[in-house]
Amino acid sequence: MTEQAWASEVSGKIKEKMRTVAERSRHKIPYTTVDGVFDDWSGEKITWWTNGFWGGMMWQLYHATGEELYREIAQENEEKLDAALRNSDCMDHDSGFRWLPTAVADYRLTGSQASRNRGILAAGDMAGRFNPVGRFIRAWNDPEGKKAGWAIIDCMMNLPLLYWAYEELKDPRFLQVATMHADTAEKYFIRPDGSVNHIVEFDPATGEYVQSFGGQGYCVGSSWTRGQSWALYGFTLSYLHTKEERYLNAAKRVAHYFISNIPESGLIPVDFRQPADCVWEDSTAAAIAACGLLEISKCVDEREKHVYRGAAMKLLKALAEKRCRWDTECDNILEKCTAAYHDKVHEFSIIYGDYYFIEAIFKLTGEEVFIW
Ligand code: GLY
Repeated sequence: MTEQAWASEVSGKIKEKMRTVAERSRHKIPYTTVDGVFDDWSGEKITWWTNGFWGGMMWQLYHATGEELYREIAQENEEKLDAALRNSDCMDHDSGFRWLPTAVADYRLTGSQASRNRGILAAGDMAGRFNPVGRFIRAWNDPEGKKAGWAIIDCMMNLPLLYWAYEELKDPRFLQVATMHADTAEKYFIRPDGSVNHIVEFDPATGEYVQSFGGQGYCVGSSWTRGQSWALYGFTLSYLHTKEERYLNAAKRVAHYFISNIPESGLIPVDFRQPADCVWEDSTAAAIAACGLLEISKCVDEREKHVYRGAAMKLLKALAEKRCRWDTECDNILEKCTAAYHDKVHEFSIIYGDYYFIEAIFKLTGEEVFIW
């Protein structure tokens, strides 16, 4: 079977399953499944960083099928997020994850001015988190300001909101903030071997480097796989938006490290440097990395393409064949996703695993709507 035929077959399974799942979950914003049923984070948990992915899945499916049901669900998700946009305590650096797959996608596909307004408000708030002496975007909030100097690698995926605002408003401040953060991330997060730190602390008053943390990975100096994926895809996106070669080179360095650590099975652990007897996996890291690798393969010389596309295919085939639920008894697609190494629970379903898996398959079939 050709790669194209394989991807079309998987795309067909996604569409068949999601028609039923979307219909029965239409008023929810899911994070995970409980006994196979999507939970709902649209109430008091509305400020959580993952609450844009359900809308993003719906826009992908709307784009691929033209079915109005998906547009309606995506727009309901977007409107519910207004409660987060109004709550300054809960606005953090994850505005890209929340408003690119919802409001900005809506604006791009329908021209909605209310959606454009949401995207601009979210971008302005995110740019306001920039620390000018350290040249980084502050990640999280805390009442005592102990995290005022913390930046995290995940933020590379939020930068496209600033690139979009720059294009939309023709205001170079958004581009300046995004590229200064990306340059800081390249310098302090990517290690010489291509692996990346999750969290780096700077002195927020002087901008000086203080220390790095293991974050959601195993320990300081380890290699949390989703963090590697955020870096791989995030630097690629900075390249796509700016055409600055240094970002493509950074993405390739992380990709080479990632590819050299993919196990024979194609299934990705929570941390590439977790203890040898630990078997916990994180399917989200595989799906996100596959998206980034497919984008890199489109940016490089013909002779190099196979390196990145081949690795993406290995990851996606392993997921589709060993870690996907195709029955409609259960709402999620991907299994064995993990939020953090030191959490009490591992290997469950997580909404952004499904989102990036769909995005990757739709990249292969040409059905994708570009969200980032
Ligand atoms: N952005 C947080 C995470 O990847 O879990």
